[in-house]
Amino acid sequence: MEYVIRKATPNDAERLIEYLNIVGGESDNLTFGAGEFLVSVEDERVFLENLIDAPKSVIFIAYKDGEVIGDAGVTGKVRRMAHRAEFGITVRKDYWNMGIGSALMEKCIEFAKEHDIEILNLETRSDNKNAIHLYEKFGFKKIGTLPAFFKLNGEYIDFDIMQLDLRG
Ligand SMILES: CC(C)(COP(=O)(O)OP(=O)(O)OC[C@H]1O[C@@H](n2cnc3c(N)ncnc32)[C@H](O)[C@@H]1OP(=O)(O)O)[C@@H](O)C(=O)NCCC(=O)NCCS
Repeated sequence: MEYVIRKATPNDAERLIEYLNIVGGESDNLTFGAGEFLVSVEDERVFLENLIDAPKSVIFIAYKDGEVIGDAGVTGKVRRMAHRAEFGITVRKDYWNMGIGSALMEKCIEFAKEHDIEILNLETRSDNKNAIHLYEKFGFKKIGTLPAFFKLNGEYIDFDIMQLDLRG
């Protein structure tokens, strides 16, 4: 299947919001559900503009025929945490298990290495088998648990804290 991965630009603001509002409803794994990514196009545009000069942050978008089918981001931290960044990823359900998540992950790890990020952190539902498989494939290790991180329809859901240590 043909698709391209490239860095998000301010011109992606509208498409990215649309995408996140759809992908949020395709699993119960994200911090937002269908239609819950309530950011204005203008605010998203400013956010993406600021990313251009952000030394340790990036969003990569997977595009197929002009449609967003996946995204992944590295969000750098500051001061005494500037060696660390948070990682996040989503892929449209129709395209799961086709290697798009892996391709986005590769881009983010490459970016992290090029930008002196030594540790990538993430949190994932402890029952998110696809995601945990993907993360472990790229060397992430579970370093702890956040009990009751989500409360979804009255149910408490634990999260794993995972870390990729890129220090040589
Ligand atoms: C997690 C996610 C990004 C993975 O994207 P993807 O494009 O399907 O990833 P890939 O195709 O590169 O890899 C998926 C891997 O999971 C494996 N997998 C799929 N279902 C699995 C399961 N139930 N148990 C274990 N492994 C599983 C696949 O075999 C594949 O492994 P391989 O590369 O060794 O063959 C995607 O499922 C997604 O967006 N989920 C909803 C949002 C989400 O959960 N994001 C992460 C929040 S922490």
